Amino acid sequence: MANAMRLCTLGLFLLSCWTCEAGSKVTKAVDANMKYKDPKVPVEDRITDLLSRMTLEEKVGQMTQIEVPVATPEIMEKYFIGSLLTGGGTQPVKDASAKDWVDMINKFQKGSLKTRLGIPMIYGIDVVHGHNNVINATIFPHNVNLGVTRDPALVKKIGEATAVEVRATGIPYAFAPCIAVCRDPRWGRCYESYSEDHKIVEEMTDIVNGLQGDLPPNYPKDYPFIGGKDKVAGCAKHYIGDGCTVKGINENNTIIDMKDLMSMLMPAYDLSVQKGVATVMISYSSINGVKMHANKKLIDLLKEKFKGFAISDWQGIDRITYPPDANYTYSVQASILAGLDMIMVPDNYTDFIGNLTKLVNDKVIPMSRIDDAVTRILRVKFLTGLFENPNPDYSMVDMIGTKEHRELAREAVRKSLVLLKNGKTESEPILPLPKKTKKIIVLGSHADNLGYQCGGWTVEWQGYSGNDRTSGTTILKAITNTVDPSTQIQFSEKADPEFLKANKDADFAIVVVGEKPYAETKGDNLNLTIPHPSQEVIKKSCTSGIKCVVILISGRPLVVEPFLPAMDAFVAAFLPGSEGQGVADLLFGDFGFTGKLARTWFKRVDQLPMNFGDKNYDPLFPFGFGLETKKGDGQGEL
Ligand code: GLC
Repeated sequence: MANAMRLCTLGLFLLSCWTCEAGSKVTKAVDANMKYKDPKVPVEDRITDLLSRMTLEEKVGQMTQIEVPVATPEIMEKYFIGSLLTGGGTQPVKDASAKDWVDMINKFQKGSLKTRLGIPMIYGIDVVHGHNNVINATIFPHNVNLGVTRDPALVKKIGEATAVEVRATGIPYAFAPCIAVCRDPRWGRCYESYSEDHKIVEEMTDIVNGLQGDLPPNYPKDYPFIGGKDKVAGCAKHYIGDGCTVKGINENNTIIDMKDLMSMLMPAYDLSVQKGVATVMISYSSINGVKMHANKKLIDLLKEKFKGFAISDWQGIDRITYPPDANYTYSVQASILAGLDMIMVPDNYTDFIGNLTKLVNDKVIPMSRIDDAVTRILRVKFLTGLFENPNPDYSMVDMIGTKEHRELAREAVRKSLVLLKNGKTESEPILPLPKKTKKIIVLGSHADNLGYQCGGWTVEWQGYSGNDRTSGTTILKAITNTVDPSTQIQFSEKADPEFLKANKDADFAIVVVGEKPYAETKGDNLNLTIPHPSQEVIKKSCTSGIKCVVILISGRPLVVEPFLPAMDAFVAAFLPGSEGQGVADLLFGDFGFTGKLARTWFKRVDQLPMNFGDKNYDPLFPFGFGLETKKGDGQGEL
């Protein structure tokens, strides 16, 4: 009885939400029997009404998510496809504008709305650090930077800005936040994790309310909440243990006891659910040898306190077996029985639909399991306002990469750099540098390369090199913007002897080097050395007799100890994103360094995994370390 009362209360609450939001939109007379089409009816009643009308074919279709390259409006209609996604790097057309995205989504939605019951599809996309597939979107610093800020309010604002840019392209669903607790920097996705410290990750779940909106008072703590047209449905990922695999091997096995899982990894999911997260994505990885995509015990543990839907990862069910797809029928059976609700197929949808339909007809999968999945999917669709507003408009297309959003990203850059060395001795700091000095030389592959400073998941899945794909400010440009007009700036990617000789009169050398972009398994790395030719550029620049400031662009700590003595200053910039101006703001004292490491900086790779609190903890720079500088110009010596 209590449950019915609770749902009824919730229903009345939601009704009041929708009446104000959607009532004005509903112009067509609503067929009195088609309760699910009436925004004045409580969401749970709309779900019950719609579910009762659906055939198995229509239900299985709702559980199917396919990717844009294999989709057409006709396929959306014929197979009742419930969701569409864009994978990393896919765009409607090359250099698509926000309007192009809106037009594409409307094109596919038209197919979905032609179906018998007119259930709108929900379109999802990755927003790893801003709306990163979209040209000229604000590219915020990656999560590895945001954990350094220890500023949940800032991260929530980033969520708000990101939601606006996602909606500007007509998209209502974002696969974010990643709440991995990365415990080994050899993991190619460690930069998607806020910290090795689960408490920092838990604090950063405030981004859920940035993306989705703040919960109204007395809102249930297990129910999704999406607060309006400038908010999106979010997705906490990847459940569970994605960042704790052996040697950081992506998609591999996490060995952990239940006590540590419940104390270190589960709290961020509990908090995300309590903050109204709409969906949770299941991890490719395994817990103690059990694939998460087939882990009924742990998925049940999540879903007993969560009323949104659980979505698979890309071909996540295929990878239940090794080799992937070895037994697709088993993959479908195991994942759906384990509790997955929507499957990111994303290509072989006829196989998925055929297998699932047969498994239900053969009574291997009970209809109750299908109804649970579809109930959750419809709930998120109703709460996202899709039934009232299935077709995005152009009203927000100018909200991509706005000045306000870029300033927010610049602030995040400033707060997320870590100063690890400042001066050959503590008594002679070199930072901040003087804006007015005779000459500064800038060197390194990452100084004038927007793609490099943004890292993976930027325009392309694996990121890119160069300055011609999207807009922003490179670190070199930022330096040039900041120094006095009389200060000479000379730039060279390499530290050629001729260049160094010709500029031996320089007062300072700023060396910007690091890792090239990568994403997922391509970023797995067992030796974590500073890549060539960055090592050589550091050595040559910092032994030329010119005071050198080294800025490392990387998704994680790297082996830097051998190079440290030659450096006069060392800054860990991690992956700052499009707003390089934030780097110059600190270098020249317009703002002070405040960032503190959110990851342990190891000495040698054989120490890994090594996290604060471990026995034999012997880092080069400990978790929480970071030097500070005051605001003010030119403390550095001439
Ligand atoms: C990827 C990632 C996941 C992403 C999904 C869709 O493989 O594991 O984080 O959301 O596929 O691109």
